[in-house]
Amino acid sequence: MFDKYNRKINYMRISVTDRCNLRCEYCMPVVGVPKKSHNEILRLEEIENIALEGIKLGIDKIRLTGGEPLVRKGIMGLIGNIANAKGLKDFALTTNGLLLKKHAKELKDKGLKRVNVSIDSLNDKTYEKITKGGNLKKVLEGIEEAKKAGLAPLKLNVVLIKGTNDHEIGDFIKLTRNEEIEVRFIELMPIGEASGWSNDYHITNNVVKELFEELVPIDVENKSIPTKRYKIPNYKGTIGLINPLSECFCDGCNRIRITADGKIKPCLHSDFEINIRKLSKEGFSMAEILEKSINKKPEKHNITSEEFVPIKRGMHQVGG
Ligand code: 5AD
Ligand code: SF4
Repeated sequence: MFDKYNRKINYMRISVTDRCNLRCEYCMPVVGVPKKSHNEILRLEEIENIALEGIKLGIDKIRLTGGEPLVRKGIMGLIGNIANAKGLKDFALTTNGLLLKKHAKELKDKGLKRVNVSIDSLNDKTYEKITKGGNLKKVLEGIEEAKKAGLAPLKLNVVLIKGTNDHEIGDFIKLTRNEEIEVRFIELMPIGEASGWSNDYHITNNVVKELFEELVPIDVENKSIPTKRYKIPNYKGTIGLINPLSECFCDGCNRIRITADGKIKPCLHSDFEINIRKLSKEGFSMAEILEKSINKKPEKHNITSEEFVPIKRGMHQVGG
């Protein structure tokens, strides 16, 4: 599938729930989110249908996100039903890792290829503060279990917050010395709780390159992925820099997003959404609905401009 700007769309991100067992300060309101009733949330069969129809149209990479995808009941069955679809090359899940220890092996057995684990600090106290009560030890155990299960390549997502975890950049980079993992530093975006945060908390990923001049670029010219990859010579793993603020990667955008309440988001930074159930009722096929959504992809976002208005949804409702 190609959009109006001739970008090939082959990546679908599906948020299977907007609920989460953590309350990261930049993402979730402390009070949590009003619980959506069952019929507001897509049923697992509906999600499966969207994924399988997407694959028929040329989607070859699917990522399940949340909230926290592992808190969704029945997720394992869904994974098993999508994993074997012909044409699917990459099948991943983004998780905060709290439930990974318990589920890593089953995820692998069901056919999931890999996981990205969000971990913003390697210090118990800081982790607890950022996540409002999260237990770092559990996440680290989950990461070990994911490695054991062969969910590879393993990637760790680190959102950098000035004054909170930016002094840990070196500790994260050290994790790549002896292991084939990728540590990805993500610039904090004006979404969710962070949409009102002042510039004092934002830090550009250039800091990482300035602090570690020995980082050498690998495939940084590949425009179709937002991650610019680097490594320290002789280290086994890699460092990824995801710079949504200091760089616009709209040119290479290859994705659409599905929300847990059944909306297709052609662009992360726009409130424009397509209501899947409504169009289905009007008689459109899933293929037509997906094609319509892809046609609505804007050329680019304007998050760094003065006039930018942050989207109304939080990240837990979009899935990153
Ligand atoms: N800016 C950048 N990243 C964010 N995430 C959640 N909210 C934000 C934000 N405002 C990250 C999570 C997770 C990924 C899915 O998105 O930490 O790693
Ligand atoms: Fe949950 Fe992820 Fe949001 Fe943290 S960032 S509250 S783990 S959805």
